[in-house]
Amino acid sequence: MKGTLSPPGDKSISHRAIMLSSLAEGESRIENFLRAEDCLSTVEAFRTLGVSIEVPPEGAVIVKGQGMAGLKAPGKEVYVGNSGTTMRLLLGILAGQPFIATLSGDASLTRRPMKRVTDPLRAMGAKIQGPQDANFPPLTVKGGELRGIEFDNELSSAQVKSALLLAGLFAEGETRVKEKIPSRDHTERMLTLFGADFERQGPVSIVRKTRSLKPQAMAVPADISSAAFFIVAALITPGSDVLIKNVILNPTRTGILKVLEKMGAQISLENVRENWEPVGDLRVRSSVLKGVRITKKSIPSLIDELPVLMVACALAEGPSEIRGAAELRVKETDRIKAMCDNLGRLGVEVKEFADGCRIQGTGTFRAAETDSFDDHRIAMSMAVGGLRSSGEVAIRGKECVAISYPRFFEDLGRLCH
Ligand code: S3P
Repeated sequence: MKGTLSPPGDKSISHRAIMLSSLAEGESRIENFLRAEDCLSTVEAFRTLGVSIEVPPEGAVIVKGQGMAGLKAPGKEVYVGNSGTTMRLLLGILAGQPFIATLSGDASLTRRPMKRVTDPLRAMGAKIQGPQDANFPPLTVKGGELRGIEFDNELSSAQVKSALLLAGLFAEGETRVKEKIPSRDHTERMLTLFGADFERQGPVSIVRKTRSLKPQAMAVPADISSAAFFIVAALITPGSDVLIKNVILNPTRTGILKVLEKMGAQISLENVRENWEPVGDLRVRSSVLKGVRITKKSIPSLIDELPVLMVACALAEGPSEIRGAAELRVKETDRIKAMCDNLGRLGVEVKEFADGCRIQGTGTFRAAETDSFDDHRIAMSMAVGGLRSSGEVAIRGKECVAISYPRFFEDLGRLCH
């Protein structure tokens, strides 16, 4: 693999940029917004709540912010497709609105647990109804008078933390979220950028009722979770030298770089700069990888990269083990099961645990038919695996890459000579 790649904009940041811009007072411009299905679900949701959002085919997305009290009751159900981030963060915002709204999603989202968000939002005063005591969509939220709570984010879920901090913007008193193992902090950084009444005290994030947010002109850095597929692809393909540009280097997201470095990867950082989020370019050269142990404390910093890291482990020398990653079972699909199943088909010896797996490294994969399980990151991981197979690797249901990276196969084809 040779060449230069500019991966698409960061998914987590694109969602949050639409949300905070919608609540700000006036027009925000968002450059390098991720035009993929998940983030477009957030755009559609906020349009349904009365916000005017222009998404031209290229160039900045323009959001006409309505102010903290400007969202309108939706005239229909708010459908958020496959996007867990849209649903969980939006639940937080809706909890503070003086109207009723119902959120629904696709078959995968309808199976994903929501009590982790609906329980603390109820404790803040929101009324939420839905199947199994509001654990699954569709969920109906009757927002209104909220009061701040203190919450221990034991799952280290950035979606739970963000939902509560966003609800906290509308709540009386302080909303405090504490975490032992830090999850991605994009919401916190953006709350500061937009001028919310927000502060951090060590491991605790504190937000107070905020009357108004300032609109912003911002540029979304490239998503390290999308770059990850190309990082691993270049490492495992002999003779590769790839430059991946403008990648977010927020320390709550760079666990993959640390793990790959431990495995022996040659990755250098160039042109590192810091704005409201740190970014830089990554130069990746093919490398001989050795097995690694990934444990609980690093999981939140590389949670979405675990499927492609499993591919790297499967091609490394010796055994690897991943533990403390039970959260992978409740992503777009059960990613532990999906990856163990697919790696098994590719001829890899894998042992599945409730919270991870053990993978015995092998030289090459064999030809196989694999399955995306309708999960974008599983499909892209299998495409990367296909680069080191003795035969063809087929991927059933590859279209789901459009959830986060519509141009994935074009970009991969362009860099492979
Ligand atoms: C996200 C947080 C993570 C991550 C997801 C995006 C976010 O989920 O897996 O893809 O944007 O906050 P959890 O909060 O469930 O860990």
